[in-house]
Amino acid sequence: MERYPFLLLTFFFIVSSMVAPIHCRKQTQALGHLYRNKMKGGSGINKGHFKPIHHINNSRVHLQQGMREKDIIQMLPGQPRVSFEQYGGYVTVDKSAGRALYYFFVEAQHYSKESLPLLLWLNGGPGCSSLAYGAMEELGPFRVHSNGKTLYKNRYSWNYAANVLFVESPAGVGFSYSNTTSDYDKSGDGKTADDNYVFLLNWLERFPEYKKREFYIAGESYAGHYVPQLAHTILLHNKKTNETIVNLKGILIGNAVIDDETDTKGMYDYLESHALISDETAYGIKKYCSFSSDENSEISRECETAIEDITKDTYYLDIYNIYAPLCRNSSLTVIPKKPSVENFDPCSDNYIYAYLNRADVQEAMHANVTKLHHDWEACSELIGRWGDSPSTIIPILQELMANGLRVWIFSGDTDGRVPVTSTKYSIKKMKLPVKTKWHPWYLDGEVGGLYRSVQGRFNVCYRKRGGAPSAKLPTKEGTFIDQALS
Ligand SMILES: *[C@@H]1O[C@H](CO)[C@@H](O)[C@H](O)[C@H]1NC(C)=O
Ligand SMILES: *[C@@H]1O[C@H](CO)[C@@H](O)[C@H](O)[C@H]1NC(C)=O
Ligand SMILES: *[C@@H]1O[C@H](CO)[C@@H](O)[C@H](O)[C@H]1NC(C)=O
Ligand SMILES: *[C@@H]1O[C@H](CO)[C@@H](O)[C@H](O)[C@H]1NC(C)=O
Ligand SMILES: *[C@@H]1O[C@H](CO)[C@@H](O)[C@H](O)[C@H]1NC(C)=O
Repeated sequence: MERYPFLLLTFFFIVSSMVAPIHCRKQTQALGHLYRNKMKGGSGINKGHFKPIHHINNSRVHLQQGMREKDIIQMLPGQPRVSFEQYGGYVTVDKSAGRALYYFFVEAQHYSKESLPLLLWLNGGPGCSSLAYGAMEELGPFRVHSNGKTLYKNRYSWNYAANVLFVESPAGVGFSYSNTTSDYDKSGDGKTADDNYVFLLNWLERFPEYKKREFYIAGESYAGHYVPQLAHTILLHNKKTNETIVNLKGILIGNAVIDDETDTKGMYDYLESHALISDETAYGIKKYCSFSSDENSEISRECETAIEDITKDTYYLDIYNIYAPLCRNSSLTVIPKKPSVENFDPCSDNYIYAYLNRADVQEAMHANVTKLHHDWEACSELIGRWGDSPSTIIPILQELMANGLRVWIFSGDTDGRVPVTSTKYSIKKMKLPVKTKWHPWYLDGEVGGLYRSVQGRFNVCYRKRGGAPSAKLPTKEGTFIDQALS
């Protein structure tokens, strides 16, 4: 393992655990809704393995001359003085449909930003915004004051360590849109990865100095799907063209949706062990619910009853941060409350909503240039249907490791929706040999958490195919790239 990136990732880990993510009920609903549909037989959601886009129509990648300069954000309204560049704007991913993704990019606040990696951040949902959560509540450089008008600095911002690119994805989320609104009902993992990849190709045309830069993809919650799927797509196209189109080095996923079976079991075990549901309910779940990803499994009435009980028991709880208070008063304040990054304000969603819906803010960020007919929302109300969502992404994670990419899975222990138990069960299911045993890591002399590294499968060997080398992968499951290339 190269020393430098390792330190960098350690830094990320510490930072991310200090800024425990918190989410509104809507995000809970987005993920809960998808899970319920996936568990039902006949929901029409394709749970089969992810298939990356094979051919990128050339007409989707455009010259971007002069567009970068237009995207410079001089100053966000109410922003404190900073010493890094910010950009915001749209990247068209499908001209004929009129589909464009919005991005917000903050360069590193570091004297050697030219040598620091580029990191793309995605939030989950599906349908939730990377601006809402990632940029404005978690790892971005600013937070919004309780007046909804001014910003303050986040001293744990990830842009101390990387150049960070927040993308609102897929179209229909946040400021991202499609002029062909029927696109919203065709959403799913496949189209999201496809558009994210085309976005990235175009964005790198717009910012060519990042083309060769070390690149990482990170995200949380349902982005546990998006991140590996985008990585997989990048890998496929790098191999197909025998060129490093994108210099992908690794991925980081936090409290990530990985595998339906282990995620679900881990969630119920977490709720039970944290005394958030009754013993009877926990018993009902164990006795009557099956979490296997079997396509035809039907939920029994008894299981449904137990799930309803859980919904009731956890309703007055921020399930994404079980010890956090709820927002009791959603009004903005005239005078900002004393802000604190360490002591999270549960009403933050409201401040961000107010801020990002301001006309002057949108103008400064080059957002909503087509005057959309809906408000900016943290989680989309436009995306109606989610067509495909594989029951597991473990084969992709294994494949990424087999191709020498670095995979960092982190998990905060106060999230009850995609909890640390789920993460541990998923890692166990991957059956990776342990390199270093669980051991604590420290921050200011206190235990910050536990850490373990597992041996990735780096035994990549080459075989000939039409003269081009391609990795022969060690697992039966992890062979889509080879199959895709044949
Ligand atoms: C590429 O996209 C253009 C414009 O949408 C379309 O006319 C053309 O048929 C596409 N080509 C392929 C090979 O799909
Ligand atoms: C969507 O339509 C508006 C209004 O016609 C247009 O200005 C905009 O460029 C279109 N968006 C894309 C991505 O083509
Ligand atoms: C909510 O907060 C606002 C602004 O601080 C205040 O004016 C209002 O009285 C509060 N409402 C309640 C019900 O506490
Ligand atoms: C875009 O602007 C229009 C007109 O000002 C506004 O009504 C709408 O809420 C905005 N939508 C978004 C997504 O920002
Ligand atoms: C692919 O790249 C390798 C290493 O640069 C080179 O040896 C090989 O000839 C290339 N193959 C093709 C098909 O371009």
